Amino acid sequence: MSTLNINGKPMSVEASDDTPILWALRDELGMTGTKFGCGAGLCGACTVHIDGQAVRSCVTPVSEAAGKKITTIEGVGSDKLGAALQAAWVEQGVPQCGYCQCGQIMSAVALLKRNPRPTDAEIDEAMNGNICRCGTYNRIHAAIKKVAHSQGGKA
Ligand code: FES
Ligand code: FES
Repeated sequence: MSTLNINGKPMSVEASDDTPILWALRDELGMTGTKFGCGAGLCGACTVHIDGQAVRSCVTPVSEAAGKKITTIEGVGSDKLGAALQAAWVEQGVPQCGYCQCGQIMSAVALLKRNPRPTDAEIDEAMNGNICRCGTYNRIHAAIKKVAHSQGGKA
C-alpha cells in the first residue's frame, strides 16, 4: 500500500512497489486516460509526468513516485500550458482514433516546459517516442508550434 500524489491530491493504492504506475492509475483509481499500448516503454501511450518529466508509466514502478508528484492527462489541463496545448489539439483537429493522444499531449507539455521555443527538429526529436498508428504526426507538430508561437517562441 502506498500513497501517491496524483494531480495534486494524495491517493492511496494497494499496488505493490514494483507494480507499474499505469496499472495503479487504471485498475485501482479508474483513471483510464493513461493508455496501455505496448507495455514495454516503446509507444508512449502511457506517458505521465513525474515531477514534470515525461515517463512511461507502463515500465515505471509505483516505488519511483514515492515523495514525487504524478501528473496525468486528467490533471494536466489545470496547468496553463497543458490547457493551451489541449486547446491547440482541438483547434488543429489532431486526433483520429484518439488512442495515442493523451500520451502525445503529456509528452508535448513536458517538451514545452523544458524548452518553450523548440525548433522543428527539437519537436520531432522530443515526440519521436510517441507512436501514432493513425499518422497524426503533422497535426501534432502544428499544434505544438502554435502554442510555442503564442508563447513568443520562434518555432
Ligand atoms: S504502453 Fe507504455 S510505452 Fe507503450
Ligand atoms: S490518433 Fe489513432 S493512434 Fe494516434
